[in-house]
Amino acid sequence: MSGVRTALLLWVWVLALSHGARIIVQDASTSKGPEAAAKNIKIRSTENAKMEMYSVKVDCKVTSRFSHTVITSTALNKANFSREAVFNVELPKTAFITNFSMEIEGQTYVSEVKEKEKAKMEYKKAVSSGQTAGLVRASGRNMEKFSVSVNIAANSNVTFTLTYEELLKRQLGQYELVIRVKPEQLVQQFEIVADIYEPQGIAFLDAHGTFITNELLPLVEKTVVDKKAHISFSPTLEQQRECPDCSGTLINGDFIIKYDVARAETIGDVQIVNGYFVHYFAPILPRVPKNVMFVIDKSTSMRDGNKMQQTREAMLTILDELHQDDFFGIVVFNGYISQWKESLTKATIKSVTEAKAYVSQIRQSGWTNINDALMKSVEILKIGRQDHKLSEGIVSLIILLTDGQPTTGVTNLNTIQANVRGAIGGNMSLFCLGFGEDVSYSFLDVLARQNQGLARRIYVGSDAPVQLQGFYEEVSSPLLSEVNLRYPDNLVNSLTTSHYKQLFNGSEIVVAGRLTDNSLDNFLVEVSAQGFEDDFSVSSQASAQDWNLLYPEQEYIFGSFTERLWAYLTIQDLLSKRGTGTVEEKANATAKALEMSLQYNFVTPLTSMVVIKPDADLGSVGSQIADKLTEDERMLKRLQVQQADTRFRVPQAVTMQRSSYASPRSSMNFVDGDPHFIIELPEREDALCFNIDDKPGTIFNLVRDPLGGILVNGQTIGDKKVAPNGKMNTYFGRFGIVHQTLGVRLEVTTQEITVSQDGKQVKLYWSETASLKGANVDLQVTKDLSLTVNLRDSVRFLVILHKVWKKHPYHQDYLGFYTLDSHLLSPRVHGLLGQFYHGVQFEVKDLRPGEELQKPDATMLVKGHELTVTRGWQKDFHSHTKKGDLVPCWFIHSNGGGLIDGDHTDYIMSGLFKTF
Ligand SMILES: *[C@@H]1O[C@H](CO)[C@@H](O)[C@H](O)[C@H]1NC(C)=O
Ligand SMILES: *[C@@H]1O[C@H](CO)[C@@H](O)[C@H](O)[C@H]1NC(C)=O
Ligand SMILES: *[C@@H]1O[C@H](CO)[C@@H](O)[C@H](O)[C@H]1NC(C)=O
Ligand SMILES: *[C@@H]1O[C@H](CO)[C@@H](O)[C@H](O)[C@H]1NC(C)=O
Ligand SMILES: *[C@@H]1O[C@H](CO)[C@@H](O)[C@H](O)[C@H]1NC(C)=O
Ligand SMILES: *[C@@H]1O[C@H](CO)[C@@H](O)[C@H](O)[C@H]1NC(C)=O
Repeated sequence: MSGVRTALLLWVWVLALSHGARIIVQDASTSKGPEAAAKNIKIRSTENAKMEMYSVKVDCKVTSRFSHTVITSTALNKANFSREAVFNVELPKTAFITNFSMEIEGQTYVSEVKEKEKAKMEYKKAVSSGQTAGLVRASGRNMEKFSVSVNIAANSNVTFTLTYEELLKRQLGQYELVIRVKPEQLVQQFEIVADIYEPQGIAFLDAHGTFITNELLPLVEKTVVDKKAHISFSPTLEQQRECPDCSGTLINGDFIIKYDVARAETIGDVQIVNGYFVHYFAPILPRVPKNVMFVIDKSTSMRDGNKMQQTREAMLTILDELHQDDFFGIVVFNGYISQWKESLTKATIKSVTEAKAYVSQIRQSGWTNINDALMKSVEILKIGRQDHKLSEGIVSLIILLTDGQPTTGVTNLNTIQANVRGAIGGNMSLFCLGFGEDVSYSFLDVLARQNQGLARRIYVGSDAPVQLQGFYEEVSSPLLSEVNLRYPDNLVNSLTTSHYKQLFNGSEIVVAGRLTDNSLDNFLVEVSAQGFEDDFSVSSQASAQDWNLLYPEQEYIFGSFTERLWAYLTIQDLLSKRGTGTVEEKANATAKALEMSLQYNFVTPLTSMVVIKPDADLGSVGSQIADKLTEDERMLKRLQVQQADTRFRVPQAVTMQRSSYASPRSSMNFVDGDPHFIIELPEREDALCFNIDDKPGTIFNLVRDPLGGILVNGQTIGDKKVAPNGKMNTYFGRFGIVHQTLGVRLEVTTQEITVSQDGKQVKLYWSETASLKGANVDLQVTKDLSLTVNLRDSVRFLVILHKVWKKHPYHQDYLGFYTLDSHLLSPRVHGLLGQFYHGVQFEVKDLRPGEELQKPDATMLVKGHELTVTRGWQKDFHSHTKKGDLVPCWFIHSNGGGLIDGDHTDYIMSGLFKTF
């Protein structure tokens, strides 16, 4: 029933927290779809809002890095009709939601955490089929977004309360708590309060906000006394205003708290409370000189999204940060391997300057030979180690940066892993940076783990250089390896992971366990590890503390934090164990993790939260499910969400670009093999795509509405000649558009646009920006880029011209076709694109590894068929005509067989304006 609403206005307000909160208010008319919603967002700021966000309160308590955050918000419906409120919170992906409730007219509706499968079954019973909206989606890189909507009666209010817990992770020497606030509306009562208690003492603490102006600065209150910190920020409604008479708000961005604790003891800190212990280990140790090889991919794909330029930028900073005791080398690769110098070089001012000049000149081209590049780097490091100049205990690192899959040389991923592992022989650490979405991240992850390192994804974006430098800083100073933490066996019965391969400067190891004896006085803690020169070993006695006596006023979190922290870590350990071990071990780990998730009310990948909510109009109580996303789901959804955020203007964009004779499954080349039909389904935040491969010159029917008298056909063209890789691409080169009722006929080629009406003909050329306004048709040409076609009272299309370099040896210019608005077409509209204008029902299940890494297969139920589909990405050029946006989609194989009605040959037409 999601499309039917009786209310005149749909008010949506959104509060989200990122380690934080984001708050958006929308005012949208009903049933006009997302486009109308987008327009109304602008109107909203001038109209006087009636649904009022009365209060927003973020209350965060942190005890020994374990944070417990409660977000409470009240919305008032002052209108005399019922309206919908949406509560939308962004929380860190590493956090677990532990509670959610809604209070409406004196009644509290508390959500329940249940086993995922059970919750799903109950939910299926509770709602009509076809409703798929989950309450949790991936948001950006590190967050997930929880959203609940509830329809509340006239003149009433709703109070939402969400709680989540998380262990703050130390990185680069600090803990960071980020609260994202974007209310987009003035709020009567707005408050952020954080109380931090750190038994080791707070070394420094900084609180600031990206949105904090000079006027707001004095409102950030911060008190730090030894072990306790209190931070608050609560601007009045007047203080939130952008300017004295504005209705806009200044509160828009991240509120960030950074701090670190004092580290007096090498052994770290051990806390024993209420039958559980937690040990924090982050010793201060001297710097270790290192040998480091930078291995940089310069294959053609590094051009996309400015990756090459950003890599150069990051490398310049990283090189500057080398210590003069370090030795380094640079290997650059595409299909060929080249190196700055044959041997490791000491990082003197002179050599660093030379290396920077070398890095500045790197330009992208060619294929990707990861195997040989790594082999070369290992060889240079080995020679360096043998060289008497380099001391024995020195640490050797390889830092690989790549954005793609190996496409030449050794391309079998297992073989590369075996080769690299053999060559490194446990004597060096390999760190892999996967740049962008196309990268074989799981391959890099395994490769790094097999060689005492770790992998990280670098997201395409303007901050990529900062991400690269940050990762380098994190891993460039390993302090210890093979770290073993030991506690008395007879006193501890459930210990979290206590062996770590490596400890980097600025990070921290946390181990927790349950004690068998509640009243211990002495508890022996030992840590041993390999240092780079000497072995490392420390031990110490710890004793239980009575926290209730020490800090009686803060009882809640102090009373049970060790136990909840232990449960949090144990569940995370168990979840990661599900990937390894025997079938029985995996089953045991899953069962245990589930049991603990239920016991502690954590929403984990094994549990779901059933959200109970009333509906003022229907007078009934329904339910919806909030899930924790797994990493796989995040991978699939992250792009979708980014896309959805920027693209929900378009009601239903059905787009097409280029075709290729090559099957996309076998293709590795980023230019070819793109599917060319994309059916975007903004409501589901998903897309379907397929190829139609046929001979160049074939004419296909794309849209045909017999009632509206609309026809769109497209003719394919081929390449000028067959490309060296033997693939012949086809593209759309000519479109014929007819509106019979209006008597308009349009022919669009890569050179010109011809409009015919009532026997008259007008030509427009791509080489000039021009517009043509008629009674029935509006055309707008943007020079060499795009053509918008508006046919009166029926449709709006966008044609994009893709210009290829004139002297390109084989490609030629081609066209893309996008439907901007099709809602006025009749239910009988058909054609390769037209059949999807009124939506398509499908279900996707059984996500499983596909033939290519990062492109999993799944089973799709659609139009009564069960199809194997593959997750992929496709470029959508409609909002960024030049660069395009990546859209994730389900690829349907075999010319869209099973998805399109009939066979693709049924859509072949005998002429550009023919209907047969
Ligand atoms: C709501 O109020 C308006 C004017 O204030 C009135 O015209 C309308 O009938 C009222 N609607 C309901 C459902 O009471
Ligand atoms: C969840 O919140 C409700 C309402 O605030 C409260 O009554 C309940 O005890 C909480 N449940 C848990 C498990 O904390
Ligand atoms: C919300 O509604 C309740 C009655 O259900 C009322 O007592 C309370 O004052 C209202 N809150 C606000 C902020 O108006
Ligand atoms: C560790 O990082 C801190 C800054 O966070 C720095 O002052 C210190 O020198 C580093 N130590 C080593 C061994 O690199
Ligand atoms: C690793 O180092 C050890 C000790 O220095 C050496 O014996 C061994 O051959 C090295 N392994 C490889 C593959 O180089
Ligand atoms: C799995 O759990 C069962 C029952 O608790 C236990 O008997 C068995 O030893 C466990 N197996 C493994 C491999 O841990």
